[in-house]
Amino acid sequence: MHDIGKIGIPDHILLKPSSFTNNEWQIMQTHTTMGAEILGNSQSPYLKMGSEIALNHHERWNGSGYPNNKRGEAIPLAARIVNICDVYDALRSKRSYKPAFNHEKTLSIIAHGDGRTQAEHFDPAIFEIFKHNQHLFSDIFEAYA
Ligand SMILES: [Fe+2]
Repeated sequence: MHDIGKIGIPDHILLKPSSFTNNEWQIMQTHTTMGAEILGNSQSPYLKMGSEIALNHHERWNGSGYPNNKRGEAIPLAARIVNICDVYDALRSKRSYKPAFNHEKTLSIIAHGDGRTQAEHFDPAIFEIFKHNQHLFSDIFEAYA
C-alpha cells in the first residue's frame, strides 16, 4: 500500500528498463504525494497512517530522501519502519538495474552501504531492531517469494 501512488505514474516511466531522465525521476517521486492523497481522505486511522507512510517512505534519516527532505524524527516512525522493510525487499528482489541479492548480501548493504543505499539512510534505533530480527525478514521474504 505504501506504493499505491504508482498507479498514477505512466507505464513508460514505471516499466522503463534503463535509468530515468531528470524529468522522469521527478515524476517517479510523485508516487509518494499521490499515494498520500489517495489514502488521505479517509476517517480510518489505518488509512491515515497509510497516507503518512505513502508520503514519507522514501525520506531518509540523514535528510537525503524525498519528497520533502525530512530528517531524523521529523520522519514519522511508521514510515521509518516501512523504509527499512522496503529497502530489504528491493535488495532481495530482481530489478531491471540489479540482480536479486541473498539475505547475507542484503544485510551487508543495509549495514555498510553500496553506493546507492547507505547506512545513514536508516534510523539507528530501527536498524538495531532490524538486526535483532533479521532472520524473520529472511523467513517472511522466502515464505512469500
Ligand atoms: Fe516507493
